Amino acid sequence: MTHKHLVAPSVLAADFRNLQAVFDLVNRSEADWFHVDIMDGRFVPNISFGMFIVDFMKKMAQKPLDVHLMIVEPEKYISEFRKAGADVITVHYEACPHLHRTLQQIKETGARAGVALNPHTPVHLLEDILEQADQVLVMSVNPGFGGQKFIYQSIPKIRKLREMITVQNTNTLIEVDGGVGLQNAEQLLQAGADVLVAGSSIFKAEDPVQVISKLKEIGKPVLMV
Ligand code: DX5
Ligand code: ZN
Repeated sequence: MTHKHLVAPSVLAADFRNLQAVFDLVNRSEADWFHVDIMDGRFVPNISFGMFIVDFMKKMAQKPLDVHLMIVEPEKYISEFRKAGADVITVHYEACPHLHRTLQQIKETGARAGVALNPHTPVHLLEDILEQADQVLVMSVNPGFGGQKFIYQSIPKIRKLREMITVQNTNTLIEVDGGVGLQNAEQLLQAGADVLVAGSSIFKAEDPVQVISKLKEIGKPVLMV
């Protein structure tokens, strides 16, 4: 690894009875971003929460909000999520017939623009849009729920995407989301991931701050004295 990767805890897996405590914990950890999952019950078979909650999250967060929109017609809600405090807005390839326009729309709000791919969507479909994407989120589970089993086919996808980014010489970050934890983080970073999103592996652990710190340490060269 030549550059440092980022860790984005997915708050979906946290205890919503005390969100302030969850945000305090992530604020004082080595995590880089808060990953915020928005589900509409249409694009995915689950409903999470909307901009009203994101707005409260923004008030508690001392780190950027990485908002993952698992919703149909995301273009209708971009400005509202931006107003609520999203620093990154990621839309799904499968939900955007006019992806180029939607990414421009996100960038015009001043947010970073991301594209997410479902497990069955091949990365080569991004060839003509890569330059417009600040980040690509490779889903390593079917979106909709936390705590699912990691789909291994995502690793060759990350490798291919890394190659495409190198060939096109863009600054696009590769984010991986779903079933990520200490057991596969190293392999994902080696394949070319830049941002690790992790929900259950962090928040279901006894010491979430320590898991975050271990996820950050992976790939660090060991100092030889
Ligand atoms: C899944 C969400 C993920 C999820 C990750 O639809 O996009 O961000 O919260 O949770 P884990 O890490 O538990 O798979
Ligand atoms: Zn997500």
